[in-house]
Amino acid sequence: MNVYSRSSQKRIRVAVLGATGLVGQRFVQLLDQHPWFQVVALTGSDRSVGSEYAQACHWLLPTPMPDWAKNLTVLPTQPEAVDVPMAFSALPSGIAREAEPLLAQAGTVVCSNASAFRNEPDVPLVLPEVNPQHTSLVAWQRQKRGWKGFIVTNANCTITGLTIVLKALSDAFGIQRAFAVSLQAISGAGYPGVASMDILGNVVPFISDEEEKMEWEPRKILGQVQDRGVEPSNLEISAHANRVPVSDGHMVCLSLGLSNAGSMQEVANALCGYLPPEISRQLPSTPPAVIQLMDEADRPQPRLDIMTGRGMTTVVGRLRPDPLLDYKMVILSHNTIRGAAGGSIYNAELVVQQGLVG
Ligand SMILES: NC(=O)c1ccc[n+]([C@@H]2O[C@H](COP(=O)([O-])OP(=O)(O)OC[C@H]3O[C@@H](n4cnc5c(N)ncnc54)[C@H](OP(=O)(O)O)[C@@H]3O)[C@@H](O)[C@H]2O)c1
Repeated sequence: MNVYSRSSQKRIRVAVLGATGLVGQRFVQLLDQHPWFQVVALTGSDRSVGSEYAQACHWLLPTPMPDWAKNLTVLPTQPEAVDVPMAFSALPSGIAREAEPLLAQAGTVVCSNASAFRNEPDVPLVLPEVNPQHTSLVAWQRQKRGWKGFIVTNANCTITGLTIVLKALSDAFGIQRAFAVSLQAISGAGYPGVASMDILGNVVPFISDEEEKMEWEPRKILGQVQDRGVEPSNLEISAHANRVPVSDGHMVCLSLGLSNAGSMQEVANALCGYLPPEISRQLPSTPPAVIQLMDEADRPQPRLDIMTGRGMTTVVGRLRPDPLLDYKMVILSHNTIRGAAGGSIYNAELVVQQGLVG
């Protein structure tokens, strides 16, 4: 089914799980008037269940809460309450581990932001610009678990832009090793997140489990999908994760060593010219450019560049030679759009386009 015929059909009824949180509200914002999906259910914790969304949600986005969402009653995160073909999960990981399988078992396709199932061998970890073919794991997942629905996950917000860059350069030159240092926004920790006394005028050089995710998730995404799991890429990554006093936008300072030599112009061309696989090129959330390369000496900056391509484009700047490895650069990606809700919606569009829903 192509995009045109899908958009002329009735929209698919969807739920947002954990709709009151930072990522949950991004879903509500991005799904407003989505051509394929119509939000009919919003869930929260016991704190919010039974309240209207407008009362339960401390709305933090610069655009107004959509009118259709205001009067929806917040539901419990259970299949009996949420009877929809597709759900977007913005649940904390521990809650997702319990709730998402119940929904998948009941027949719902769950597009999850949570880390709970990313490392399961039968669960696809997908960036549509990079590895749409990994959704072939869905057949095995359904068979193995006896589910009518399934779970597909998107990547950790910090590694999203990083992995897109690694893919573009590994296609062109191969990559042997990468050294990555993150500068992560406070919105990455949810709401209320990091205490202002801890982060204002400060940098916190530790984010629980983040460096581990930065080191293994790109290897799964860049790996070879097989009938029973993914053979991870043998790329070596060393990561440092830091929380910085920025509201939105995760940066990664990346140095990498290529397998095959390329000039700086060739590296720049590989980044600018990177195209997503065919199936991901014309979905509603496809960014106008997957990667935008900036020439200015002091860009990208989160405040100035984070909304490039509606928050879906990976912005790269400061491309230069690296005296230890081959090249270094700075990557910027929107953590609650491309790295969370927008990425999950892009995954949902992909699995619909692949005929895996309904
Ligand atoms: N923030 C980011 O940049 C980002 C990026 C990528 C992935 N993620 C992941 O996305 C998920 C959500 O993150 P967030 O930043 O939006 O967190 P958050 O602001 O803390 O929101 C958490 C949401 O989960 C709900 N919730 C909490 N306990 C629950 C329970 N027992 N049952 C049902 N719902 C429950 C909350 O509902 P109430 O308000 O009703 O309590 C709220 O809607 C996490 O897994 C996170 O790791 C976040």
